[in-house]
Amino acid sequence: MALTKIASVFLIYLFSFYSQTAKSQFCGCSPILCCSQSGYCGITDQHCGSGCKSGPCRQSRDPVDKIVTQQFFNGIIDTRNGCAGKGFYTRDSFLQAIASMFAHFTHETERFCNIEEVNGTSSDYCDKNNSLYPCAPGKSYFGRGPIQLSWNYNYGTCGQSLGLDLLRQPELVGSNSTVAFQTGLWFWMNSVRPVLDQGFGATIRAINAMECNGGNLGAVNARVR
Ligand SMILES: *[C@@H]1O[C@H](CO)[C@@H](O)[C@H](O)[C@H]1NC(C)=O
Ligand SMILES: *[C@@H]1O[C@H](CO)[C@@H](O)[C@H](O)[C@H]1NC(C)=O
Ligand SMILES: *[C@@H]1O[C@H](CO)[C@@H](O)[C@H](O)[C@H]1NC(C)=O
Repeated sequence: MALTKIASVFLIYLFSFYSQTAKSQFCGCSPILCCSQSGYCGITDQHCGSGCKSGPCRQSRDPVDKIVTQQFFNGIIDTRNGCAGKGFYTRDSFLQAIASMFAHFTHETERFCNIEEVNGTSSDYCDKNNSLYPCAPGKSYFGRGPIQLSWNYNYGTCGQSLGLDLLRQPELVGSNSTVAFQTGLWFWMNSVRPVLDQGFGATIRAINAMECNGGNLGAVNARVR
């Protein structure tokens, strides 16, 4: 008798738990359930993993994943239809290529609006003296992606590091957003990170030395902002 009672209480409990799971969209879950990014209650990785809003959320394996939330990303991105970058620079592709260089990315791309260099696409940025990374016929190495990777020698060394033939296919940086962010990360790690301890100004010099010494105060201020 007692056992039956316990069992039926348990069943009722299970049932209400289950129906709550099924109907609690947009959360207000039981405290033992996680509220998923899209507002559903449950206990799977999809509920308690990345984007989990409340309940026993699992510690994110990646601290960047917690800092760079979707809301953070939405706050930066310009969603006007005129922007080529709309739908290109996504949080997911960013997390695949992890980075922490928002001040420069934001400036280089004008708040993730541009993929290719504004007014730069008519120059080929080919240093013909560089025999190590010769320009491929008909290809241009103007700025592309979040750090505006430029010049054949940068496309060459970066491509070598990523295992991609960016000398023959520089346009990959503008068409695949994971590659785009990887080039930003590559440039950061190779050219910017070594001067981080010298301050923010040194990072500007590493990215675009022409802005320094009064070369473009407006650009410098925009990066600092
Ligand atoms: C690009 O060129 C247009 C037309 O010449 C000019 O109005 C604009 O200021 C230029 N933009 C940049 C970022 O140089
Ligand atoms: C390439 O080398 C020539 C001859 O040494 C030199 O005059 C020219 O300025 C160099 N070009 C670049 C882009 O460095
Ligand atoms: C984009 O590039 C990444 C990294 O090289 C690759 O894994 C992925 O398959 C590419 N995506 C597309 C749509 O080509």
